[in-house]
Amino acid sequence: MHQKIVILDFGSQTTQLIGRRVRELGIYSEIIPYNKYPFGKEKEENIIGVILSGSPLSVYDNKAFKIDLKKLLGSVPVLGICYGAQLMAYELGGNVEPAPSREYGRARLASIEAECPLFADIKVGEQIWMSHGDTITALPSGFHKVASTADVNFAAFQSDSMPVWGVQFHPEVYHSECGMQLLRNFTVGICGADCSWSPESFIETTVADLRATLGDDKVVLGLSGGVDSSVAAVLLNRAIGDRLTCIFVDHGMLRYHEFEDVLAAYKDLGLNVIGVDASKRFFSDLSGVTDPERKRKIIGADFIKVFDEEASKIDGVRWLAQGTIYPDCIESLSITGTTIKSHHNVGGLPERMNLRLCEPLRLLFKDEVRAVGRALGIPEHLIDRHPFPGPGLAVRILGDITPEKVAILQRADHIFIKGLRDSGLYNKVWQAGAILLPVQSVGVMGDERTYENAVALRAVTSTDAMTADWAHLPYEFLAGVSNEIINKVRGVNRVCYDISSKPPATIEWE
Ligand code: XMP
Repeated sequence: MHQKIVILDFGSQTTQLIGRRVRELGIYSEIIPYNKYPFGKEKEENIIGVILSGSPLSVYDNKAFKIDLKKLLGSVPVLGICYGAQLMAYELGGNVEPAPSREYGRARLASIEAECPLFADIKVGEQIWMSHGDTITALPSGFHKVASTADVNFAAFQSDSMPVWGVQFHPEVYHSECGMQLLRNFTVGICGADCSWSPESFIETTVADLRATLGDDKVVLGLSGGVDSSVAAVLLNRAIGDRLTCIFVDHGMLRYHEFEDVLAAYKDLGLNVIGVDASKRFFSDLSGVTDPERKRKIIGADFIKVFDEEASKIDGVRWLAQGTIYPDCIESLSITGTTIKSHHNVGGLPERMNLRLCEPLRLLFKDEVRAVGRALGIPEHLIDRHPFPGPGLAVRILGDITPEKVAILQRADHIFIKGLRDSGLYNKVWQAGAILLPVQSVGVMGDERTYENAVALRAVTSTDAMTADWAHLPYEFLAGVSNEIINKVRGVNRVCYDISSKPPATIEWE
């Protein structure tokens, strides 16, 4: 079992970032709710250190989240960040009060205790990031100050007798210049992490775990063409071979030739995959439907039916595998730390079919999934794909959907995406695609008047799809794509470029 650093989540917005940073150091980290810590099982679980996160609460609130510090401190090295530090100061007999003014933003280290291992190679004057409304005004006995800023006396403290530290600032945010060094000092210098977490080590241990858990059982997995389900499939295939059956459903609203190309790529990877062309059924059920949410519901329901029908044909399936990744699981850790949102699993299929869930990527961040995919030998074009919505082009055709409209949009979209790839711009944007607008406009081609469709091009930059800006693609590039679409795609005589950011617009048009 990997050595691990546990991050106890007290509900801070930056908890995930702490996990991220520790992983960046090549150390396996797990975020768990503050009230789920396995006291006394550190050795069994290979926990080499614990980080207590921040929290939106104050330690002196009635509702403040508490843990049994006496059981924790001294068992493994502990680093408290912000609320985590205040919790230790307050619970062990120090004092925490509302700060005279809330302290947000950059600050500089004004003093550091020489020889403090947490601050090794960190110098006075380096920038750190503060974000707190409370401040520690007295340390408990048995603790002493190891760093301060101009405004915060106890910017960091340490126990005199145990491997325990607290920092008032946030080493996990990029603005803390010495943040990575501080986290390295804690995890490597103090906890003794060996930094052996790598895609290869993940593959090795996960394949062994999957073999042990699944035994001779059969597993079914729904492929979408996206990176998460593809990586999950290849990993499982490596563990249990043909006992994994993958189902790839074509709802008819995938991209140009996507079903054929991706199916062929899956077969090249040695996957046992069933491709199901169910497009007729989807088109028929979507006929005349214009409301975006209804489109989504119909596609979701049909998808489940098709998947269910195919999966039921395989004898003795015990597990449903999914490409769920870490942010899907922890984004919604509720503030009480007890409920985790139900994943986007295939619409309740596990219960209906009496299947158990297998989610081999559930502890990975997106970029780690990509790194694992590369280490598994999955071709780059499957790894670096832009996100694509489950309902596909159905939410990029405004109004009702017909096979003819899909065919027009597929061609326009293909010219745009191929153009991005050929110009080296594909990886500079987060997501891109074409939208078929429900308007026709007048044009002239040769000597003839035309009255045809308009297509909008959308390309955005983003880091998480929560906010996005329109990509500032070069005019020459846009001119070339517009020209090619109008010349080659029958039925389109006008191309527009969407220059709206999110918010207030969204990435998709529906
Ligand atoms: P919006 O349009 O909300 O999109 O800015 C944010 C991200 O979510 C994707 N998206 C979807 N993905 N099913 C999906 O699987 C959907 O119904 C859906 N709607 C939007 C969108 O492509 C973007 O990446």
